Amino acid sequence: MTVTHRSQSETGIQRDAWVEINLAALERNFKKLKELTNTPIMAIVKADAYGHGATTIAPILQSMKADSFGVATVDEGISLRNANITLPILILGSTPNWSYKSCIANDLTITIHSPEQINQLQDFCSNSGLRTKIQIKLDTGMNRLGVNPNELDKTIDIVLSSDIFQLTGIYSHLSDSKDYNFSMKQKEQFDNAIKKYKELKIQTHIANSYAAINYPEFRYSLVRLGIGLYGQEFNFLEPLISLKGRVTQVHEILKGASVSYDRTWTAENNALIATVPIGYADGVDRNLSNKINALYKNKAIKQVGTITMDQMMFDITGIENLKVGDSITLLNKDLPVSNWAKILNTITFELVCRLKMRLPRIYSRE
Ligand SMILES: Cc1ncc(COP(=O)(O)O)c(C=O)c1O
Repeated sequence: MTVTHRSQSETGIQRDAWVEINLAALERNFKKLKELTNTPIMAIVKADAYGHGATTIAPILQSMKADSFGVATVDEGISLRNANITLPILILGSTPNWSYKSCIANDLTITIHSPEQINQLQDFCSNSGLRTKIQIKLDTGMNRLGVNPNELDKTIDIVLSSDIFQLTGIYSHLSDSKDYNFSMKQKEQFDNAIKKYKELKIQTHIANSYAAINYPEFRYSLVRLGIGLYGQEFNFLEPLISLKGRVTQVHEILKGASVSYDRTWTAENNALIATVPIGYADGVDRNLSNKINALYKNKAIKQVGTITMDQMMFDITGIENLKVGDSITLLNKDLPVSNWAKILNTITFELVCRLKMRLPRIYSRE
């Protein structure tokens, strides 16, 4: 393994718990997705690249000829600019009017999601003598953020009547991409709304990873890929992320002794317990208590007792030679995040985002 670098998390790196992020897997995923979709790719790196570290991930994707980046907030966009990202950056969320100035100063593309907002942005730009790049987001059924298709013409009229705006795209977002029929309905709305504007020669896009991979007709001029790049959700792609920690204590307990808060696990026989300094403050949900395994040298060890804020315990009875300082793996290719997602009745997206909370990241290329 080549360790590329270690990035400091907010609470520092001096602890025996970390995530490893394999940048070679990112490169392989990007290549596969590029070959499969044969369409320019907007890499979605919001929420710190779904917890993988946007300022490390984005330069690699920039060098691999991604088309552009999508972020959720102005600050996420600025941190990419500070990491020498020169490609277009689209803010997918709503930009507060008090951040228009820093948005424009950092060449971030503002999403327009209502006619009122375009008026407001026009006023701001006229008063300050600035111009800006924008994309219009249409709401075709997600009902989260976006111009109502009936109001698209009105919005575009304002955009085209002024030289303040450089309109680079119109896009929408699927609310249930795994449902082909519903996605088709959204696509039809999108097609109807944009058909008049073909001559504008701007980007049009609607596909997330699932739609881009499965529905070629949803690819338009750009696909917006997030989770696929990080190798979750699709078996033909590789997860980038592993979660590891070193054992800090090994001790024997007697039959009948309980482990951790609320005594949710009791030893049926004398047992050997290992403590690992990873807890729910690191993004490992407390509801996983007593339900997950880790790996020690390819052997499964069972997590026992309630997961605490900073530590959790494992039953290592019968595992020979496991000692303080040895590392164990909680997540990797063989222990996928999707196992946790099933237990928690959630999605891998949420769980990988959470792992960035306190854990240092080690980047490798293998
Ligand atoms: C507007 C928008 N586009 C694209 C994506 C990427 O979706 P995925 O991670 O499923 O590829 C997201 C993710 O939530 C999004 O909010």
